[in-house]
Amino acid sequence: PASDPHLVERARAAKEALGDQVFVLGHHYQRDEVIQFADVTGDSFKLARDAAGRPDAPYIVFCGVHFMAESADILTTDAQQVILPDLAAGCSMADMALIGQVEDAWDALVDAGIADDVVPITYMNSSADIKAFCGRNGGAVCTSSNADVALEWAFGQRPEGTGKVLFLPDQHLGRNTAVLQMGIALEECVVWNPHRPNGGLTAEELRNAKMILWKGHCSVHGRFSAESVDQLRATVPGVNILVHPECRHEVVTRADLVGSTEFIIRTIEAAEPGSSWAIGTELNLVKRLADAHPDKNISFLDRTVCYCSTMNRIDLPHLVWALESLVAGQVPNVISVDAETQEWARVALQRMLDLPG
Ligand code: 13P
Ligand code: SF4
Repeated sequence: PASDPHLVERARAAKEALGDQVFVLGHHYQRDEVIQFADVTGDSFKLARDAAGRPDAPYIVFCGVHFMAESADILTTDAQQVILPDLAAGCSMADMALIGQVEDAWDALVDAGIADDVVPITYMNSSADIKAFCGRNGGAVCTSSNADVALEWAFGQRPEGTGKVLFLPDQHLGRNTAVLQMGIALEECVVWNPHRPNGGLTAEELRNAKMILWKGHCSVHGRFSAESVDQLRATVPGVNILVHPECRHEVVTRADLVGSTEFIIRTIEAAEPGSSWAIGTELNLVKRLADAHPDKNISFLDRTVCYCSTMNRIDLPHLVWALESLVAGQVPNVISVDAETQEWARVALQRMLDLPG
């Protein structure tokens, strides 16, 4: 539905009144009604970089989810405040790895005598304390645009053939990157279940593994199925299947192309007029791509998969409320990471930002 014109006007007026005081960041999965007010849009990697690009703006309004706002707080100056228009905009995947569980897992790796071989890598979609854990233990952050380079870096931290990676919290991104881009065998990937003693793994399984994948997944991307790919291929001649690497392995292996949100956008922009595409990522983005490219046949990979409900919590009323509060001299919903967590999380984020490419 079209945005309420009264709210659109209020958002425009508040943004104008704030001028350079405010910098609005919008993730590609945000609603149209919100994204129209973003000064920059991007995937989580681009936004992490962009957040640091406006040190003169005292207020960063982050239209995305909690872990992204935390990363922005870590990468901006102490004088800047990061605002999340709705504090309930979390991420179910990030919530699947709690710091206590990760510390217990690490202790178990120490007891098994393999911790010295393991480099922890966390996907950007994780809480700041998990990023800090990786920073403290010689690891790094990665995103869906650089997971392969981050894994290459991690294995390069240990003598040839001895390294292992503990990959948090998305088992699918970890497995897809390891198997499809690094040539690691499927059998060398094991899944650590934080709800089972010793992760549900034997000492031998841990010793033989190259990738220890945390048992986490995205509740949106994890729902695309191999059947939906097969069905589309059978019904839409010449369709190209384009999916995000948070999708399950059997979906990704059936797809024509796999890549981050920015990759998906670039691919559609470069596609031939008249070509057919079925896209497996968040629905707000797929709809926007379809609207922006009426000369291409763009469909959603599986109509039973919904929007990301937490991304969608940031709607126009919340954005208007955040901006008007700032105009009134109040700073609402500040996301603030404590100094020690910031220090170590920044180490892990910086290792990512320093990766080649
Ligand atoms: P990217 O922005 O890294 O593509 O991640 C997708 C996602 O699920 C963000 O929540
Ligand atoms: Fe989290 Fe998935 Fe939503 Fe991204 S799309 S915020 S990973 S639940």
